[in-house]
Amino acid sequence: MRIRSFEDYEKAYKESVEDPESFWGEVAQEFVWKKPWKKVLEWDFNNYDVKWFKGGKMNITENCLDRHAHNKPNQPAIIWEPNDPAEESITLTYKVLFDRVCSFANVLKKNGVVKGDIVCIYMPMIPELTIAVLACARIGAIHSVVFGGFSAQSIADRINDSQCKMVITTDGAVRGAKHVPMKDTVDDALIGCPSVKKVIVATHTRTPVSMIKGRDAWWEHEVKLVSADCPAEEMDSEDPLFILYTSGSTGKPKGVVHTCGGYMIYSTYTFQNVFQYDPGDVFFCTADVGWITGHSYIIYGPLASGAQSLMFEGVPTYPDAGRFWDIIDKHKVNIFYTAPTAIRSLMGFGDEYFKEKDLSSLKVLGSVGEPINEEAWHWYNDNIGKGKCPIVDTWWQTETGGIMISPLAGITKTKPSFATLPLPGIQPMLVDEHGVEIEGNGVNGNLVIKFPWPSIIRTTWGDHERCKTTYFSTYPGLYFTGDGCQRDEDGYYKITGRVDDVINVSGHRIGTAEVENALNMHTGVVESAVVGYPHDIKGQGIYAYIICEETPEDPEMTKRDILMTVTRVIGPIAKPDKILFVSGLPKTRSGKIMRRILRKIAEGDVKNLGDISTLLDPTVVEEIVKGAGY
Ligand code: PRX
Repeated sequence: MRIRSFEDYEKAYKESVEDPESFWGEVAQEFVWKKPWKKVLEWDFNNYDVKWFKGGKMNITENCLDRHAHNKPNQPAIIWEPNDPAEESITLTYKVLFDRVCSFANVLKKNGVVKGDIVCIYMPMIPELTIAVLACARIGAIHSVVFGGFSAQSIADRINDSQCKMVITTDGAVRGAKHVPMKDTVDDALIGCPSVKKVIVATHTRTPVSMIKGRDAWWEHEVKLVSADCPAEEMDSEDPLFILYTSGSTGKPKGVVHTCGGYMIYSTYTFQNVFQYDPGDVFFCTADVGWITGHSYIIYGPLASGAQSLMFEGVPTYPDAGRFWDIIDKHKVNIFYTAPTAIRSLMGFGDEYFKEKDLSSLKVLGSVGEPINEEAWHWYNDNIGKGKCPIVDTWWQTETGGIMISPLAGITKTKPSFATLPLPGIQPMLVDEHGVEIEGNGVNGNLVIKFPWPSIIRTTWGDHERCKTTYFSTYPGLYFTGDGCQRDEDGYYKITGRVDDVINVSGHRIGTAEVENALNMHTGVVESAVVGYPHDIKGQGIYAYIICEETPEDPEMTKRDILMTVTRVIGPIAKPDKILFVSGLPKTRSGKIMRRILRKIAEGDVKNLGDISTLLDPTVVEEIVKGAGY
């Protein structure tokens, strides 16, 4: 499974395309299966259905825990760095992690969770989060991790969509200097969630919380009542492993479903090859487990590889903007994986934050979540990597489960801002708006994938039609990524950004429809339209055009109220960066909002608005341009 040279890569790639079943069948041999599969792959992109390793039985936790707890019990699995640097960090060895996962798995069982039940996990970045995730997988419960920054309403929507039976949370959380009331937020959410019968609360900040008799139980109390012996449930390769909600261009966030076998194989294969992980390396991925990056590259990929995965509770700027570099220095991190938005923000703080830190342990740097601009790439390369660490710019999505297009560290020649080449098994293609393939190099188009890979999305929870229409109907027979892409003269891929109504704010996907829905819930708001615009640090910012019933008397105060509504409905990450009150929106005669024009205005490119003569009322454009300050 291990690629060591560019020749290896070319050979693996060729094999994976010519005979995908043999290729992945061979990779899968390196994992622990309870029963072998009968068929490596069955697929249909027209009436979407994909099955990898059909008939194979396994449990991902046996691959992540049992074998390593047996072979190298004392090796660190999770190294936890707390928010407050004055607190002790914690190391969980494979043996300790294994025991704690098994105990907690028994707690889940004792509280009525059985195979196939869905468990919502709403927790900060503490070891118990990893334990909770793996405990679900141990007994075949499907975890649905909700990012700790989401509001009560967002939690409730996600719980209700998949009818979660249990919620696992903490009393509180700390992020930098801020205290966050986790259990309180869960309590608010649960007012509208009749499916939830039990809440397990881990003690973390020991802030006072309400505990409802019969429903709420303390983690620490529950684990005392169970044994640490919990055999792994036998799972079918295609049984769901988890649901992770993500935003699209329309409607509510959808529950992306990943299954056990294929996801395990692809997250592990990509972890080892992209980062060129060697035994003993310390791997630090700065993402939150609430996003796919944390699922695949803090938990599953590293642990299935027997790696040391560093989990950080805090934020990059607390207590100061040198925190990442302190952590690298303190834990002798070898591989560091972060998002361009973090790099851009830390660049702005100046050299003194990294100058005195010993970063010599670093071998590989990674980037994920959004396009990395050349300036950030060079800063990262020169100052953090000291020109000697390859940067892997990894392109992928919640739906892809693992990295799709990326250099292999030290093997693929890199080029700033290019994700470079597809990984073995990945067959990208560029198409025009009619779905016609754009061949050759030095071209631009929409990025599609024409053949399945093991961790491709299987369905959207409870609504398979939505999965089909979202990903497989724009270009029939092809998986549509929603991204625009350039293939340069060398055949290298560069992702240029979303071509749909999804905004990428600091590497977080936010649907314009979702934000509009939240804005429209604010009293007095008649209609709104949201677009993305270039933002120096966040990559993209959110620009909201809002029509109010009456002109606000105190516009600044009204804007603040509106931001509070968005925070309540979705969470602070969806707050617009700019709000402009307008009296009308540019619409076509059929009533469709012309976002193209709003995007141009938000970008400040008011000279190139294009043809506005087809609008219902072209004069609104003039008013908006003026209102925006041009
Ligand atoms: O637009 C692409 C962008 O992030 C989107 C996927 O977002 P999400 O599902 O939240 O997953 C993020 C972490 C995997 C993609 O459609 N994106 C992700 N990685 C890159 C990127 N854009 C450019 N370069 C990348 N390396």
